[in-house]
Amino acid sequence: MQMTDGRGLISGGYNNFNRTVTRESWLGEAFPEWGTFLNQQIRDAIVPKGQVSLWWCGGCSWVVKTDAGGVFWIDQFAGGSGYTSKEYCGVCKQDGAASHNWLRLNPQVIDPWKFDRLDGCFISHVHQDHCDIYSVKAASQTTECGFYGPKTVAAKLAEFEVPGKRIHTAIVGRSVEVPGAKVHFVINYDDTAIRTGGGQVLPYEDCCVSFLFETSGGTLLFMGDTWYNDGYVHLAREFDIDVAIFDIGHNHPGAFDKMTPYDGARLGEALNAKLLIPDHYDNLAHCAGDPNQIVEQFERIVRENTPEIKTVVMRHGGRFDFPKDKDIGRYRYPSGAIDIDPDRSETGKRLLESKQNNSK
Ligand SMILES: [Fe+2]
Repeated sequence: MQMTDGRGLISGGYNNFNRTVTRESWLGEAFPEWGTFLNQQIRDAIVPKGQVSLWWCGGCSWVVKTDAGGVFWIDQFAGGSGYTSKEYCGVCKQDGAASHNWLRLNPQVIDPWKFDRLDGCFISHVHQDHCDIYSVKAASQTTECGFYGPKTVAAKLAEFEVPGKRIHTAIVGRSVEVPGAKVHFVINYDDTAIRTGGGQVLPYEDCCVSFLFETSGGTLLFMGDTWYNDGYVHLAREFDIDVAIFDIGHNHPGAFDKMTPYDGARLGEALNAKLLIPDHYDNLAHCAGDPNQIVEQFERIVRENTPEIKTVVMRHGGRFDFPKDKDIGRYRYPSGAIDIDPDRSETGKRLLESKQNNSK
């Protein structure tokens, strides 16, 4: 029995038959959980002029594809669960914990080693769920893409042995031209990122950057792990923001890390953004709380206070085409059924049979 027909997933038939399985073969066949299914979808997607396509990989991880065929990673994380310690962890410094466990909840929906085309890796800050050694190593070894991030990210990338000519320090106020987009590096107010590391609190600009993708489909702002900050009002005066994508989540006392639903809603209003997509409430146990409650509160606050602003709640591995999908509200997965013929179904066959019998 063949393991796969090439669609990036394992055949159910293959797993019906006995064979030797080792820990290595289990890891190789069962991970990433979505195989290369999404890689193929991204590769094959043709993005028309006037549109931009996004795939949500969970947490703050996104893939962007432009009408020029450009493929970009935003804060890709391909690691597993882990823990951090008080010597360097910004959240430990906030709440006084000696250590934090970070249990991963979302499936790995892309295979970072199997991208035929990758035009850039954009990394908002140095935290491991954004500047991820597994993703960085995969992208640097299998593609020729450039890496973009603030000063502390550039230093970390050099430590990860990314060749210097591929590392581009994202300086707030500057921009870069990439296939199908102009990417502006804009201010990001992540008050956790500026406390991360062994030394003193650093300037925002050195530690965290947001990426504003200007595309033929509109402008998309990826905000990493930002906190709410009044300074965002000024960003709205500088840029016309169509879609703002940012973290919300549950916080335990003493460790504000992700924005509350209210913070996210007022951030969207401050940015004067037309559509808001929350993320990061889904992928780590400590800030998940009740994810459905978090997104419901977010949707309600936006709907009732600023009805002119739209919200979209994504699902892992889901594709969002902007502006085509601006009114979907909540993403729904396709059924996954291929080439349906009702006559092939049990009911269809029975009906066909009784029809034939009746006509005798
Ligand atoms: Fe994060």
